[in-house]
Amino acid sequence: MSPQSTQLTAIFLLPIIITCSAPYSSLCVSASFPKFPCSGHPYSSYPFCNTSLPIDARARCLTSLLRLHEKISLLSNNASAVPRLGLPAYEWWSESLHGIASNGPGVSFNGSIPSATSFPQVLLMAAAFNRSLWSSVGSAIAVEARAMYNTGQAGLTFWAPNINIFRDPRWGRGQETPGEDPMLVSAFAMEYVKGFQGRNGEELMVSACCKHFTAYDLEKWGNFRRYSFDAVVTEQDLMDTYQPPFRSCIQEAKASCLMCSYNRVNGVPACAQKNMLEKVRSEWGFEGYITSDCDAVATVFEYQQYSKTPEDAVADVLKAGMDINCGTYLLRHTKSALKQGKISEEDIDRALFNLFSVQLRLGLFDGKPVNGKFGKFGPEDVCSEEHRALALEAARQGIVLLKNNKNFLPLKKNAVSSLAVIGPMANGTDGLGGGYTGIPCNPRSLYEELRVYVEKTTLSAGCRGVPCESKDAFSDAILAAKDAELVLVVAGLDLTQEREDNDRVSLLLPGKQMDLVSSIASMSKNPIILVLTGGGPLDVSFAENNPKISSILWIGYPGEAGGKALAEVVFGDFNPGGRLPMTWYPESFISVPMNDMHMRANSSRDYPGRTYRFYNGDRIYGFGHGLSYTSFTYKFISAPRKLSLLRPFKCRSNQNRILEETQAFDHAVYTDEMEFCGSLRFRVQISVMNNGDTDGSHVVLLFSRPPRSIDGVPEKQLIGFDRVHTAPSHHTETSIEVDPCNHLSIADGSGKRVLLLGEHVLMLGDLEHSVSVETY
Ligand SMILES: *[C@@H]1O[C@H](CO)[C@@H](O)[C@H](O)[C@H]1NC(C)=O
Ligand SMILES: *[C@@H]1O[C@H](CO)[C@@H](O)[C@H](O)[C@H]1NC(C)=O
Ligand SMILES: *[C@@H]1O[C@H](CO)[C@@H](O)[C@H](O)[C@H]1NC(C)=O
Ligand SMILES: *[C@@H]1O[C@H](CO)[C@@H](O)[C@H](O)[C@H]1NC(C)=O
Ligand SMILES: *[C@@H]1O[C@H](CO)[C@@H](O)[C@H](O)[C@H]1NC(C)=O
Ligand SMILES: *[C@@H]1O[C@H](CO)[C@@H](O)[C@H](O)[C@H]1NC(C)=O
Repeated sequence: MSPQSTQLTAIFLLPIIITCSAPYSSLCVSASFPKFPCSGHPYSSYPFCNTSLPIDARARCLTSLLRLHEKISLLSNNASAVPRLGLPAYEWWSESLHGIASNGPGVSFNGSIPSATSFPQVLLMAAAFNRSLWSSVGSAIAVEARAMYNTGQAGLTFWAPNINIFRDPRWGRGQETPGEDPMLVSAFAMEYVKGFQGRNGEELMVSACCKHFTAYDLEKWGNFRRYSFDAVVTEQDLMDTYQPPFRSCIQEAKASCLMCSYNRVNGVPACAQKNMLEKVRSEWGFEGYITSDCDAVATVFEYQQYSKTPEDAVADVLKAGMDINCGTYLLRHTKSALKQGKISEEDIDRALFNLFSVQLRLGLFDGKPVNGKFGKFGPEDVCSEEHRALALEAARQGIVLLKNNKNFLPLKKNAVSSLAVIGPMANGTDGLGGGYTGIPCNPRSLYEELRVYVEKTTLSAGCRGVPCESKDAFSDAILAAKDAELVLVVAGLDLTQEREDNDRVSLLLPGKQMDLVSSIASMSKNPIILVLTGGGPLDVSFAENNPKISSILWIGYPGEAGGKALAEVVFGDFNPGGRLPMTWYPESFISVPMNDMHMRANSSRDYPGRTYRFYNGDRIYGFGHGLSYTSFTYKFISAPRKLSLLRPFKCRSNQNRILEETQAFDHAVYTDEMEFCGSLRFRVQISVMNNGDTDGSHVVLLFSRPPRSIDGVPEKQLIGFDRVHTAPSHHTETSIEVDPCNHLSIADGSGKRVLLLGEHVLMLGDLEHSVSVETY
């Protein structure tokens, strides 16, 4: 039967209009609703289909029409159809971290769309520090997502971005995140989510999900597993490290999904964190659904033994505010949880209300593929020239030049007689995307793209695979290196070393890779270029200190166009401007227990702290490190010297409490007790001079160093950034807005934000400008 005739039949079968206030009527039973209940009259007269009604009324209406067993069957990512109401089955789990990915069951590349644009892995895109780039990438992925939905190859709910802080260099999924700094991660989350969901208010183009909430950043280390790990975190670290990206993702970007993680947080499973999940709705204004990570409800009982029975686990998460389970646990145990009185039907209705609200905002019941304004996207919108150009642009902008002795790079085009490209990752295309990759449009290997510039380019793997367990293949590579005028070695990581469910145990190059690089360097005629792949930081001090290795580039997982971007950088067609979004620690850092979640250093137990804000040990390269083919200098054009705050009344009346908690009453003001935070905002006007003879983009990073009057003050913190383009011998001005309550404040010992009184120093490269914060 064609859909048309189905609808016609239904007209005669269903003369009665369902209203939501009335209880479900048996007269409504019909097996002949169309697949999409709201796709044409007379269904449009059902209240839940009536787009003139508010979403919440429609969602409540739909909920009221369901029977209990139907309700339960919708509490899984693989939600069943309700044929009686024409509700189609729906797969909630699709993935889109840096392009449509094949990880979730919602996505299939088996259809009229065989591939999708593979952008660089997130960590490399973060290195570009360019908000408009991130937003464009989010929008481009959304277009491809809609197109794949229209061809029946994807859902409309995607579980990206991953915005956990890259806290420990060993973390296998750090590559998926925007790095170690909460402000940077927040900024990425905001641009990606807004670009992805579309900026149409309540209407969603596609749904983004902020994950993994919260303090999730350990896969498998020692005896610790992500499924049972208890992240012991202080209120202070939660407030100024772990939570800010989630807050921005929800409050500012209005993401429509939050995913709770596997781990426990201070003893309580993340999906059972009632206070935290409630706060997300009440304080951050979250409107959307909360999903568990996959099987994260089963783990509450099975791995963590937090709940006494499966039914208690169901009750713990539903009562906490989780709405849907990736997995089958709720399908199996919700009915008995109800029978045992551990949950009520209202708990289920609440979950369904949140789920339906998002589905209705997506127009999911309004029919596909042609209805609505997103119906127009199709195969020609995927892997389009525009999107592939954006993938190339993202890779170019992210690549970081770590070392460049005597301006060895860029190489002169047409002046290199022969080039040897060596390394286990130089040839393939499989490893270009890192974790959560789909099928790229037209990937080309690093070797293929370098060969475009130098006709006589040879290729040698040097190692059999990235783990590089033997030196068997060294001799061939050494011969190739000796023969060539110039040599480029590709070393580093791939998913054999770092991935979901697998953290690294060492920060050194895997296996015998270091030997390979050093041997090649010593045998080659000229100094060599070292290209590093992967997400996690590497201790490459041997290369930094070796004069025969003149240049080092970090290309992360550069995506399908990464080879071209690399070649353009090497031969000077693009001037690199990326900066590291992550501290590169020395190998000695592996003595720090990975399960220790403290951000702050503690000398009494030899704990060095984490990230540029708190780490007090040696580093290979610092956060924000990144060179250029030209040189830039700065000037502060204008910034205030003094900020005067009215001392808040409440603050006075609460002297004792403040004294107790921060021992800093005379030095600090709680920002949530300040009435005029907004009026304190100021702009820092900055000039960036290009002093060389190459044009280029430069990332301006503005830090502040707070007064050191209480414990746990960061060394410095990022308060703003901008990427600006400047022609040779010219300067470009930019201005960065600073919101003192937000940017200059820090968390005190009890996890409250305080603005410290005294000298705050704004830092721009080597320049400093102090701003005195005083009360009157
Ligand atoms: C949809 O709702 C509006 C507002 O309540 C109402 O005026 C209209 O008649 C409804 N449409 C249908 C087809 O029921
Ligand atoms: C999804 O649910 C349907 C029942 O609605 C079932 O037939 C199917 O096997 C499930 N798929 C998976 C992958 O579990
Ligand atoms: C791909 O699609 C075809 C036709 O729709 C189907 O027969 C086949 O089983 C699918 N293959 C996979 C791997 O899903
Ligand atoms: C590079 O990859 C191509 C295509 O997969 C393969 O034919 C060739 O043997 C590889 N070359 C080396 C040196 O690994
Ligand atoms: C530092 O570590 C010691 C020993 O574990 C602990 O007693 C102390 O409270 C810690 N200090 C801070 C500021 O966390
Ligand atoms: C930032 O990214 C956008 C989008 O790719 C690009 O057009 C712009 O030139 C970039 N800005 C700088 C300064 O590189």
